[in-house]
Amino acid sequence: MDSTFLNKVAAAILLSVGSAWLASVVGGGVVPTIMPAKPAMSVPGLERVAIQPYMAHADAARGAVLVQAICGSCHALQPQARQSVGPVLGGVAGRPIGSDPQYAYSPALVALRAQVWSDQNLSDWLTAPARFAPGTRMSLMGLPNVAQRADIIAYLHTLNPSPPPSQSLEKSKP
Ligand code: HEC
Repeated sequence: MDSTFLNKVAAAILLSVGSAWLASVVGGGVVPTIMPAKPAMSVPGLERVAIQPYMAHADAARGAVLVQAICGSCHALQPQARQSVGPVLGGVAGRPIGSDPQYAYSPALVALRAQVWSDQNLSDWLTAPARFAPGTRMSLMGLPNVAQRADIIAYLHTLNPSPPPSQSLEKSKP
């Protein structure tokens, strides 16, 4: 290998790194990276709503139909089932977020482990998963219908084994 060849390689690398840098500087100057103070649009139904008043009228049987139709392609439901694309949903209600040891969660859910899947957290999550946990791998757009979310949460409660896993997890903590 002669030195002119090496010089050419070095020049090529310098040139490509230099032009990439130049493009990013120019691009950054042209396109502002600051976020608008107010979102440009708000999608009806996707604002946060207190779920508790809706839980009184929730129907787990309706929730079962919805869960099978919407969630079943990615989630197994029974507590002892095998993991699917997403973690098993049996036992999820009341459990700490991202805490099934059999499932490899995204860092987005791992970061929320200090919280539990309360009804309110489940509702906020199902309204807009990517807003509740930015960077989550659950690619569901969100469920804008609050009554349907309550039905789904009521059904998730019926999947919990007794005693609730949140209690057994608390006990097994060091
Ligand atoms: C396209 C696939 C997909 C669909 C559809 C889907 N999920 Fe998920 N879900 C996932 C994935 C993947 C994760 C793990 C996300 C992560 O680690 O960021 C997840 C995580 C969750 C969690 C957190 C569980 C835990 O152990 O912390 C809950 C609760 C949940 N999903 C509920 C639902 C419900 C209820 C539905 C139906 C309304 C649903 N999901 C529909 C893929 C899906």
